[in-house]
Amino acid sequence: MGKLSIPILGFLLLFFAAAAGDTKKYLKYKDPKQPLGVRIKDLMSRMTLQEKIGQMVQVERSVATPDVMKKYFIGSVLSGGGSVPPKASAETWVKTVNDIQKGALSTRLGIPMIYGIDAVHGHNNVYKATIFPHNVGLGVTRDPQLIKRIGEATALEVRATGIPYVFAPCIAVCVDPRWGRCYESYSEDSRIVQALTEIIPGLQGDLPANSKKGVPFVAPGKTKVAACAKHYVGDGGTTRGINENNTVISLNGLLNIHMPAYFNAITKGVATVMVSYSSWNGKKMHANRDLVTGFLKNKMKFRGIVISDWQGIDRITSPPHANYSYSVEAGVSAGIDMVMVPYNFTEFIDDLTYQEHRELAREAVRKSLVLLKNGESADEPLLPLPKKAPKILVAGSHADNLGYQCGGWTITWQGLGGNDLTSGTTILSGISTAVDPSTEIIYSESPNADFVKANNFSYAIVVVGEPPYAEMAGDNLNLTIPEPGLSTITNVCGSVKCVVVIVSGRPLVIEPYLSRIDALVAAWLPGTEGQGVADVIFGDYGFTGKLPRTWFKTVDQLPMNVGDDHYDPLFPFGFGLTTEPAKSS
Ligand code: GLC
Repeated sequence: MGKLSIPILGFLLLFFAAAAGDTKKYLKYKDPKQPLGVRIKDLMSRMTLQEKIGQMVQVERSVATPDVMKKYFIGSVLSGGGSVPPKASAETWVKTVNDIQKGALSTRLGIPMIYGIDAVHGHNNVYKATIFPHNVGLGVTRDPQLIKRIGEATALEVRATGIPYVFAPCIAVCVDPRWGRCYESYSEDSRIVQALTEIIPGLQGDLPANSKKGVPFVAPGKTKVAACAKHYVGDGGTTRGINENNTVISLNGLLNIHMPAYFNAITKGVATVMVSYSSWNGKKMHANRDLVTGFLKNKMKFRGIVISDWQGIDRITSPPHANYSYSVEAGVSAGIDMVMVPYNFTEFIDDLTYQEHRELAREAVRKSLVLLKNGESADEPLLPLPKKAPKILVAGSHADNLGYQCGGWTITWQGLGGNDLTSGTTILSGISTAVDPSTEIIYSESPNADFVKANNFSYAIVVVGEPPYAEMAGDNLNLTIPEPGLSTITNVCGSVKCVVVIVSGRPLVIEPYLSRIDALVAAWLPGTEGQGVADVIFGDYGFTGKLPRTWFKTVDQLPMNVGDDHYDPLFPFGFGLTTEPAKSS
């Protein structure tokens, strides 16, 4: 489940006085005389999961009907670029915003929504508003006080239309003018960008003398707006200026060039920070917990709202086949507090709601795995695998097949193959997420031995097993691993260190191949949360599972259960090797 951040509520409570009418019954959280922390605690204690998730959602104006606001407890609305009531007067804008606000205030708790817009060089979406020079021209002035006055003027014009939040300033350091957004950057010199963060007190108001570092501040009244430092971090440093692409730079370089203005913005009480679409050294910023939570929140002590960019969650497209529910988890886990969805809010809400359930399923997958072999001897274990390796092979019919890992009784009676049957994460996707971004993953469903030998893999993970079945369709007298699974095991293992993961509804014939397999894992039928397999294979968690049923040597022994006179299993009932979680690298 997404963790509702205190900042959102603190932020919104600031607007309660402005937005909420009189309330009959006294509600502490609505009392502006109460300390902010008391009001937040009171409000949080009253909120349901759905109300909390709703507060994390920002939708576009075109879908923000009062009914939607009420039904989904939506916390914020935005005008995307150009999304404006046609040639609207200030009065029309105020009415537009207020009509949406009425929907938000009609909810059980009456939490007001906050409306945001790109006022990046004046109130630039609005007919007849003053349009100031874009940031590149303002960088020429090197005049922080001029920029602050522009912020003050912009805030007045924005509030005149009933809007209290702007997605500005962009504090990108554009290092390559081939970038299409270079004019939104004040300068290539981060010191100029730092100086011109003075627009933030222009927009939000000067910090009171006793304000705490990192705590957002927007002056009360109707002349200031919440600001948004964007796009965190490194948006202006992408390779060849390709928009939303990859910023390849050392941490030192990132901190010296692209980060300094965020220190200034936070010191000046910026209310929100927007995450960049770009990646840093191959890791999407929208999924970068180290930089969003670890650095921005924990190291720089930012206590405002971290907001995604427009469909920023949807653009988390790695690992391969990452589906939307994976992206929701990755974004919220990274530390994004509010998601600029902006249209498919029901899917986002469902995924975040069931995230909790998916986490539960993932835990169950981890605990259901049984480690049957781990290297040739106890002092030379293969698992857990290193996350950092030059090149690894993932192979097998069941590595990238959600239907196979779910088995029978899934969507249909007999179950299905493929990845379209429902949403979830395949074992391959889980592996791709788990490994270091520098590790190259080659996926091949049924590679031949020459391919394996020619590629000098660090190690291989072979995922094979049974196709889905139910009832009589699963009756099987030989219990062999169906082809191409067996060929994949023989082609891969023996040429490279291999971990074989068996996805099956029962023990299968494996004894004849065991000597060439370095590590063997029984995964049974793990379901939609395939990343639970990677969690344990790569040591985020240890193996703990014990066989709930005997693993036979040959089918001629069957039936054979613990306690039988002829009991001579390959792996006995209750068997299972254990591993400790890997020390974090
Ligand atoms: C865009 C931009 C961002 C803007 C947002 C809302 O994609 O990257 O700067 O604030 O969407 O319009």
